[in-house]
This record gives sequence, structure tokens and C-alpha cells, in this order.
Amino acid sequence: MPSDSDQIASRRKFLQFLAASPLLVGSDLAAWAAETPSRLPDPMIWSPRALDKLIASPKDAINVFDFEPVMQKNVPPAHFGYMASGIDDEVTLRANREGFLKYQIRPRRMVDVSKVDMSVDFLGMKFDSPIIVAPTGGHRGYHADGESAVARAAKTGDHLQILSTQATTSIKDTIAARGKPIWFQLYATNKFEVAKHHVQSAEAQGATVVAITVDRSGGRNQETLFRLMKNDTRDCKQCHDNSSMAASQRSKPIYEGADLSGLQNIQSSAMTWDYAKRIRDATKMKVVLKGILAWEDAKIAAENGFDGIIVSNHGGRSDEAGRSTIETLQEIIEVSGSMPVFIDSGFRRGTDIAKALAMGARGVAIGRPYLWGLGAFGQPGVERVLELLRLELRAAMQQAGAPSIKHLVPAMVRHV
Ligand SMILES: Cc1cc2nc3c(=O)[nH]c(=O)nc-3n(C[C@H](O)[C@H](O)[C@H](O)COP(=O)(O)O)c2cc1C
Repeated sequence: MPSDSDQIASRRKFLQFLAASPLLVGSDLAAWAAETPSRLPDPMIWSPRALDKLIASPKDAINVFDFEPVMQKNVPPAHFGYMASGIDDEVTLRANREGFLKYQIRPRRMVDVSKVDMSVDFLGMKFDSPIIVAPTGGHRGYHADGESAVARAAKTGDHLQILSTQATTSIKDTIAARGKPIWFQLYATNKFEVAKHHVQSAEAQGATVVAITVDRSGGRNQETLFRLMKNDTRDCKQCHDNSSMAASQRSKPIYEGADLSGLQNIQSSAMTWDYAKRIRDATKMKVVLKGILAWEDAKIAAENGFDGIIVSNHGGRSDEAGRSTIETLQEIIEVSGSMPVFIDSGFRRGTDIAKALAMGARGVAIGRPYLWGLGAFGQPGVERVLELLRLELRAAMQQAGAPSIKHLVPAMVRHV
């Protein structure tokens, strides 16, 4: 009878053998086996996720991660790098994923969950799903069908879509493809006339809510982007005119008709509560603040009657604070009263979404995963990404004993 230590030693040898196998070089398993030789085998060793084995069609995907390597193959390295990048050491980017491990679900039993209702009401608008398409810029850089493909996919699952200031398709055309009003995300800049122009144009085109992004106050070192740009042999100037700030923005539909003289950049380094209130006064749309991360700011937003906030660290790409949004959520819910709180950054699984909803978020926005689907397969890719997230959320709700969103309650989540 071999002793425990013999067994561990032989498992270690087996893993080291696997790690050295030419078949596995470069696979996730090789890295795992090399780093953790003394750990007992994991089911993953029987079906390692090999980054060179790409799915051939959206229906082959078993989770959202399957799309990213296909996108990486399809799109220019610089565009992929822009999507993937965080900032500096990408600590916040990783924290967004690791944060979910600090929360566990406490499921309830003997609840009829044979039917699950995931419908929600966001500021007076009804949707079939609490999963939101987050605003991300320049969809045509990932697929020729751009924002319209994303809109049509959002329509299939009846998801709220938030369109970026940096979108390559107009709000009007996106609404036509979506078949329902969308929200407009605003980079307010430091020039009030530009912000005013954008919200008035968005309102005229049919957007119902403006989400003012408040977390882009400074510069950022997107190291993964800059490294991958060096692998790109294309001449970026063919598509990106960076000769001036006005020239770099002119191609974005929302800037049409705006006076860009004196515009330094799209960041809002001078953003104050008064500036946000002036924007609110310039539109009839509801106003949500995107990028709130401290309870003090959530409290001010609630006290000043803002229509909602999005707890977001921009997917780890606005600063390198190191804190995940899921860890930030509770302190914000505690002071927000009836003001709706939404969240994004790092959500990849139905259980991630269920945890945030149970903790009090009204909706959860997704960024990169739908871009992976878009870059990989266009509209069908985005559709499948959203479908997988819906399926996972539905299963998570059933397993938690929650037949509808209102049944996801704080007692179902425990912080460890
Ligand atoms: C490629 C890319 C572009 C983005 N562009 C914008 C933008 O134009 N405006 C904005 O407010 N947020 C933007 N974001 C942030 C997203 O709205 C969202 O906060 C973030 O992607 C959520 O994190 P996740 O990607 O981990 O899901 C962008 C994110 C990515 C990945």
C-alpha cells in the first residue's frame, strides 16, 4: 500500500511529465502544473483549456471565455490590445475577477424555481434581463458591423444597451437596430459646450438616459496596449487621424456639429458636482453617474437627486486603485436609499451577476465579453455571449432558490 507521500510524489511526477509534454506546451495545464506541482489533480487536467484550440462557431462556446482567443486571431493586435488592456500592473483588472471569490452564495431550498423571471425595470423601462451592454468605444474596430451588430444581439435577449460617446455608429441608427431606446454614455470633457451639444443631440436622437462617466480624470498607462501596438504592422494613420484633438474625434457621429475649438482631450479633469448638475439642467433625459466607487460620492449623488449610479472602475482601465467593484458594492448600497445602483467590471459568470443582484445592484453591465463575441463572429458571437450569461444566471438563480430578481436578497450572499 503506497503511503500518502508516495502518492503525492507520483502525482507530482505525473504533472511534471504532463507539463513537459510537447502536446501540452503552451497550454493552460502546462502553466498550472509547473506552478503548483504539489497540488492534487484537478478535473481541469482531463480537459485543459488550450488557447490554440479555437471554437469554430458561436454555438461551440461553453462559456464566454471561449470567444477571446478567436477575437485575438481576427482583429488587429493594437485593437485587441486596446480591448484587453488594464493600467500599469493591471492589479485592478485582476482584482475585479478575484473579488468574486470573497463572496459565497447561501442557497435556499424547497422553492419552486421551475419558472424563472429575470425581468427588470430600469428607470421606468422594462427589460427581460438584468444584464446590460456596457458602453465601449469603436465597435467597428472589432467587426465591420460594429454597434448595429451589438444592438441587434441586445434586441434578441432584450438587454439594455448603453452607447459610448466614442461609438462609431450614431445613436439614431443604433436605436433603429436595437428596436428600443438606448442610454447614452457621455465623456463630458472640460468644455461645457461640448457636453451640452452631446446630451442635446442624444436626446434629439431618442436616448432616454445619459450616463455621465466620472472616472476619467487623468491619463493612464495602458501597458498591454502599448506592447501589442508594437506587434501591429498596419499604418494606424490610415484610420486614426491624431493630428489634433478635434481631428481625432470628428469621425465619431456624436461630435457632428459640435464646436471642438479649444478642446484639449475627452477626459473630465475638472469634473465637479456643479458641472454634472449643469449637464443635468441641459437635458430632459434622466442622469446616471458612471464610475462611483466610494460611499461618500454615492451619498452625495443620492442627496442631490441623481437618477442612478453605476459602480464601475471602467473594467480596471481608469485607475489602478486595486479594489474590485464587487467589494465596493455593499458600502455604496448602504447609503444609496432608493437611488438605483448598477454595477460593472469583471463580470463573466452567472454567479458573479447573481451575487451583485442579491447584494442590491439593480443591473449588471458587461464590457469585454461581448466585444470578444463581436470580434470573433460579429452579431452571432455577441448573441451567444449574452445567451450564455443569461443561461448561467438562470441556473444560478434556480440553484439559489430565487424564481425572480426580487427573490435574490442580501442574505443569499456571505462575505468570506
Ligand atoms: C475596449 C473598451 C472600451 C471602453 N470604452 C468606454 C467608453 O467609451 N465609455 C465608458 O464609459 N466606458 C468604457 N469602457 C468601460 C466599460 O463601460 C465598462 O465599465 C467595463 O468594460 C466593464 O468591465 P469589463 O470589461 O471587465 O466587463 C470601455 C471598456 C473597454 C474594455
